[in-house]
Amino acid sequence: MGANEKFFPGLDGVIAAETKISFLDTVQSEIVIQGYDLIKLSQSKEYLDIVHLLLEERLPDSAEKATLEQKLKSEYEIPSELLNIFKHLPENTHPMDGLRTGISALAGYDSNLDERSLSVNKNRAYQLLGKVPNIVANSYRVIQKLEPIRSNESLSYSANFFYMITGRIPTPLEEKIFDRSLVLYSEHEMPNSTFTARVIASTQSDLYGALTGAVASLKGNLHGGANEAVMYMLNEAGNVEKFEELLETKLFKKEKIMGFGHRVYMKKMDPRALMMKQALKELCDLKGDHTLYEMCEAGERIMEREKGIYPNLDYYAAPVYWMLGIPIPLYTPIFFSARTVGLSAHVIEQHSNNRLFRPRVHYTGERRVFHSTTGEL
Ligand code: COA
Repeated sequence: MGANEKFFPGLDGVIAAETKISFLDTVQSEIVIQGYDLIKLSQSKEYLDIVHLLLEERLPDSAEKATLEQKLKSEYEIPSELLNIFKHLPENTHPMDGLRTGISALAGYDSNLDERSLSVNKNRAYQLLGKVPNIVANSYRVIQKLEPIRSNESLSYSANFFYMITGRIPTPLEEKIFDRSLVLYSEHEMPNSTFTARVIASTQSDLYGALTGAVASLKGNLHGGANEAVMYMLNEAGNVEKFEELLETKLFKKEKIMGFGHRVYMKKMDPRALMMKQALKELCDLKGDHTLYEMCEAGERIMEREKGIYPNLDYYAAPVYWMLGIPIPLYTPIFFSARTVGLSAHVIEQHSNNRLFRPRVHYTGERRVFHSTTGEL
């Protein structure tokens, strides 16, 4: 390597793109989305406001929001052949793999696939925002040999998504909390999946391919898969004492505790986690059972004391989804569904000002001599 060719394992701290979409302001502890603080937005705005903000670069007025909702509703249907594809997948297919297959297959239905203009790309993003919740819900159901659920257009976007994954119309509180989780998951600067999507888009490949790659990235438990892993851990323990024991044992074995830590704000609480912690409290109050809340708080105390590491969004989103009655294997697909808008915005931005990603390596192998005349090694 030359003097200026420094290697940063995991690209830690490396600036990989210029963007107007979002950034994590670690000085002011703000998640900046199109200039606004995501946490403040999440207190009064809904997921569809954020969709409009990310794709149209401004918050909608009520008429624009209603038009957007109608547009997404008109895109809810998925090709019936997709359900057939899901039928042929083995029963142990993870919903993230079903989702990856579904998004990948949609490319074949796009008659304009080679077009990358802003308007076509945006329209494609809206189509995907309409269809991804349907794919999440029904790929899971069909693979589980359950009857698919048709979307219910009399419900809001988030209530319909909730209905399709649970078969139940949410109460107003459940709808509000579920929608808030989608807001919090919608966009988060340059995590691995967004980087993956931008790298794919930089070859001039299409939105479906970029999102398909992003699903694979998000599935890993160092990224989106953490929310499912958190819930399995909480369920395995079942109460505060056993959860404390479980965490102590894992830490003794030097295992990573899912739902804790973050590349950018390792030594601070993810502000999104705090919002979901409040939601968990509300749900526990309503149920009159605070076991999960107390377990999570006990986990927080242990991690702060032992490692000085704090919860990320997945740590509190998981028990919130549990309290909402959502099947655990759908936690990461829901995260992806919410992130579809952020990922699409990044792919559109990449396409509109593109330079191919093609980094270099620090070669640590040896140099050998090949004798081409004798073939000797
Ligand atoms: N549990 C226990 N220790 C953790 C930890 C966790 N969840 N996250 C980080 N650490 C520790 C590491 O062991 C390491 O300690 P050391 O310096 O004593 O060896 C230090 O913190 C730095 O961790 P590292 O893995 O190098 O940080 P990273 O930036 O590469 O990783 C994550 C970031 C998110 C991958 C990591 O925190 C993690 O694996 N978290 C759990 C998975 C998760 O919740 N993912 C969702 C992220 S939003």
